[in-house]
Amino acid sequence: MKGIVLAGGLGTRLMPLTKVTNKHLLPVYNRPMIYFPIETMVEGGIRDILVVTGGSNAGDFLRLLGNGKQFGLSHLNYTYQEGEGGIAEALSLARDFAEDERIVVLLGDNIIGGSIGNAVRAFEAQPGGAKIFLKRVPDAHRFGVATVEGDRVVAIEEKPANPQSDLAVVGIYMYDSSVFDIIQTLKPSGRGELEITDVNNSFISSGAMTFEVLDCWWTDAGTSFDSLLRAANMVASWVKEGHVRP
Ligand code: G1P
Repeated sequence: MKGIVLAGGLGTRLMPLTKVTNKHLLPVYNRPMIYFPIETMVEGGIRDILVVTGGSNAGDFLRLLGNGKQFGLSHLNYTYQEGEGGIAEALSLARDFAEDERIVVLLGDNIIGGSIGNAVRAFEAQPGGAKIFLKRVPDAHRFGVATVEGDRVVAIEEKPANPQSDLAVVGIYMYDSSVFDIIQTLKPSGRGELEITDVNNSFISSGAMTFEVLDCWWTDAGTSFDSLLRAANMVASWVKEGHVRP
């Protein structure tokens, strides 16, 4: 299984912090934001990783991450997203890298206090399709929101005004190689982007989606000043409790 970290976008929700840098390079307590998803991948056993970035500060990722030595890697791959086409468009740039293997995709601003290792192995054992993580949150309207019936996700709504549940879709997704054909069929949403929620709903329609409820803390760090502050505080408590990553 290969890993893809999506770290593009213009970070407009964090202006002016993002005027001269990419939001994924901003500090979250003791590390640049982008360190967290890469550490999560490596800890989960994923060693072949592509970073998709964009904007005018893309070169800084190379200077910061190099070949990934600080994560115990011998090589890191990079690609460049032109413009702001959305998460699914950024993912489409990973097609050649994926080479028909299964992939795990992490949004570069999503931070978890736990491991994806067991879920990666469970996904490798399922026949194909996709797997997502859900997390109960008090502010579901900020996220993709899942409706679950029994042991199946039956729908996901992107940032609904009236959420049907409190189950947010976490920015960690596992797909088989059919994901790239699905992206080619997508139409831009109201905000002019190819939405990852449309990709996930396609797997749900074909009955190929599984899910797990994340059993550790999770936060997105890059959607508002408050989310950046909350992420820093969560990481600070976690580090002070003695948790370390390689
Ligand atoms: C994206 C996805 C959303 C998901 C969220 C997780 O939203 O579109 O479904 O719940 O990431 O962080 P964004 O914050 O990029 O608007």
